[in-house]
Amino acid sequence: MRDFIQGLPKAELHLHIEGTLEPELLFKLAERNKVTLPYKSVEDAHKAYNFKDLQSFLNVYYARSQVLLTEQDFYDLTWAYLQRAHKQNVRHTEIFFDPQTHTERGVPFETVITGISSALKEAERTLNLSTGLILCFLRDLSAESAMKTLEQAVPYLDLIQSVGLDSAEVGNPPSKFVSVFDKARAVGLLTVAHAGEEGPPQYIWEALDLLKVSRIDHGVRCLEDEVLVERLKRDQVPLTVCPLSNIKLCVFESMKQHPIKKMLEKGLCATVNSDDPAYFGGYVNENYEGVVQALGLTQDQVVQLAKNSFVASFLSKDQKAKYIKEVEEYAKAPSPLPSVGEVDPQGRVRGR
Ligand code: HPA
Ligand code: ZN
Repeated sequence: MRDFIQGLPKAELHLHIEGTLEPELLFKLAERNKVTLPYKSVEDAHKAYNFKDLQSFLNVYYARSQVLLTEQDFYDLTWAYLQRAHKQNVRHTEIFFDPQTHTERGVPFETVITGISSALKEAERTLNLSTGLILCFLRDLSAESAMKTLEQAVPYLDLIQSVGLDSAEVGNPPSKFVSVFDKARAVGLLTVAHAGEEGPPQYIWEALDLLKVSRIDHGVRCLEDEVLVERLKRDQVPLTVCPLSNIKLCVFESMKQHPIKKMLEKGLCATVNSDDPAYFGGYVNENYEGVVQALGLTQDQVVQLAKNSFVASFLSKDQKAKYIKEVEEYAKAPSPLPSVGEVDPQGRVRGR
């Protein structure tokens, strides 16, 4: 099944670009920008990965993001992720970025978005990988700060598909951001929100009804509310689930307890994603492998997850149909992967 997952065309829809900062690049950027790190070595930085909840992870994630200062830094970070995604046969990716993490430290919005977008354009040109960009508001900051961030984004709307909502969930419900999300939709952006990761099912209801989201990020706690499950199923609201993240942040005790198989069996449009792969032990394929191994997903269920990833994307109807056909053809006859370094006609490559 590992080879099957490797060759499977897939989309990734829940990926924080700041969460792809691997210790090696962290050290390289710290040196380049003369930032002092609280780690003696790359190995030392690799070890600091024991989180007890979302906040304990966010503390490390925000601290490390401070090495990101120049347009080149944001380009290098994004390019490193895109190359890895390409090697895992990710055909389309919609990535989150957290501008406030940077603008609050004095890094201009323009620096952040220009660096990230240049790498996305390069991937479209050279990696046969389509991309999208989602601006996330930090929900533990004020609604005013989010509104100011949206205003900064207005000159760059052609680069952004959607707004999102991330950071510390409990105590920061979607209802806090109604006016910002109203304004975002008014300027033509789509909306998504993290909800039901650590927060209650009520936050998922609010994201749907108040923020009018197209997708729920995480959403794993929906299973505590049967009426909500019915609503999500009826409207086929996609849920961007991140299995390794959920285990690392102690949302579930072990992968055997993870509800993704149950979610599929209930007819929900669940997808598999890596969230913050530099911190949670794997990129998207390792997330697929983790759930297959622990929960015994069938090959049909794995194919369903890959199809869902395109259905749930912000691609056009035609683009979705093209990618879904690729998945179906691959599932019928899983073709051997091309040789190392080669790209086959579907854009697939060999690598992990
Ligand atoms: N949840 C909330 N905020 C985040 C996450 C997450 O999983 N990753 C990065 N910011
Ligand atoms: Zn996330």
